[in-house]
Amino acid sequence: MAASVEHDSPESMEAPQTAVEAEETKTFKDLGVTDVLCEACDQLGWTKPTKIQIEAIPLALQGRDIIGLAETGSGKTGAFALPILNALLETPQRLFALVLTPTRELAFQISEQFEALGSSIGVQCAVIVGGIDSMSQSLALAKKPHIVIATPGRLIDHLENTKGFNLRALKYLVMDEADRILNMDFETEVDKILKVIPRDRKTFLFSATMTKKVQKLQRAALKNPVKCAVSSKYQTVEKLQQYYLFIPSKFKSKRLGSLNKFKAKARSILLATDVASRGLDIPHVDVVVNFDIPTHSKDYIHRVGRTARAGRSGKAITFVTQYDVELFQRIEHLIGKKLPVFPTQDDEVMMLTERVTEAQRFARMELREHGEKKKRSREDAGDNDDTEGAIGVRNKVAGGKMKKRKGH
Ligand SMILES: Nc1ncnc2c1ncn2[C@@H]1O[C@H](COP(=O)(O)OP(=O)(O)OP(=O)(O)O)[C@@H](O)[C@H]1O
Ligand SMILES: [Mg+2]
Repeated sequence: MAASVEHDSPESMEAPQTAVEAEETKTFKDLGVTDVLCEACDQLGWTKPTKIQIEAIPLALQGRDIIGLAETGSGKTGAFALPILNALLETPQRLFALVLTPTRELAFQISEQFEALGSSIGVQCAVIVGGIDSMSQSLALAKKPHIVIATPGRLIDHLENTKGFNLRALKYLVMDEADRILNMDFETEVDKILKVIPRDRKTFLFSATMTKKVQKLQRAALKNPVKCAVSSKYQTVEKLQQYYLFIPSKFKSKRLGSLNKFKAKARSILLATDVASRGLDIPHVDVVVNFDIPTHSKDYIHRVGRTARAGRSGKAITFVTQYDVELFQRIEHLIGKKLPVFPTQDDEVMMLTERVTEAQRFARMELREHGEKKKRSREDAGDNDDTEGAIGVRNKVAGGKMKKRKGH
């Protein structure tokens, strides 16, 4: 196996360091990452490894299976991508690693990160996800990429139907968002995949929340894994300011009014649905609004983790109605924090509510009027509705001026 990591920094011999200081000054090179990949990190602006990277990379390089648990936005992708690329450089091979992720968007993002880190070594990745033409994916697989990043369902399709494609020589399996990959939704797919890849491989599980159910973890067929947990309990990051906003449920159809208010204050907004809740890394997200309270408390951690990533700050605001109080308390219990109420000016919000209601009424009237006009003109013009439709739109764009001209 790869040479074990040596802590050979001569500078550190001069002044004795505390353990914490030593951790803080560690470089990627200290972790055992090879020079060309250290340069790639440098080019991405990763000046030093994050905590989970410090914990996981040396062990991964020693060939251990890993369960990596660290807060959102803390660089878990790098923590598994770097050791895999490092190993790939040592023993180059096609179809070397498979990364399973729960969503398409996340698969593309992980692929981008592998490509960014591995550009100078010519690493080739294929993203195999649903909703995209299967044929082009078969072609990509035929070229035998080094790394396959896939959602489980579509990968099974290719394993079953794409001639010449198999993962029998695979060396690394990663489950990103592992607790999600190992839950019921993906059960049959994951079991099928595990049957057709070698038992003799390295397995990495990573997530910000991990299942405690040993049975589920056993399904991943880890071998004597080490757990790299950056914190012992589920944490949201320090620089995230979290609030709740109590809204009687009858006002929740008024989402636009409230949102406009947030918009006026914030530069970007993410309305979290659970499809976008995990893993996505969009650095400039400033605020996460939980319009509906997540029913699984762990989803809260993933959702709010879309902001305040990689040491940045961010805000999360969760709407709580009279029916959500219990769920909300469960979330507070999970993250071990009581959240403050988000300060709003009730009068202002209510004023917006009125304006929105008025705008909605106006829009409905316009739509109805437009519908009737269209019906009438269709009756007048027989089957020539394209032209009429176009004039209608032009009238709107020109603020009604066209109408006058048409009248001549
Ligand atoms: N060592 C580093 N220094 C600076 N930035 C880093 C470092 N490692 C990763 N990053 C950046 O941090 C951001 C978050 O990384 P990543 O998406 O891997 O987080 P994550 O831990 O997987 O979060 P999540 O739980 O939400 O999936 C990315 O933009 C990534 O480029
Ligand atoms: Mg991630």
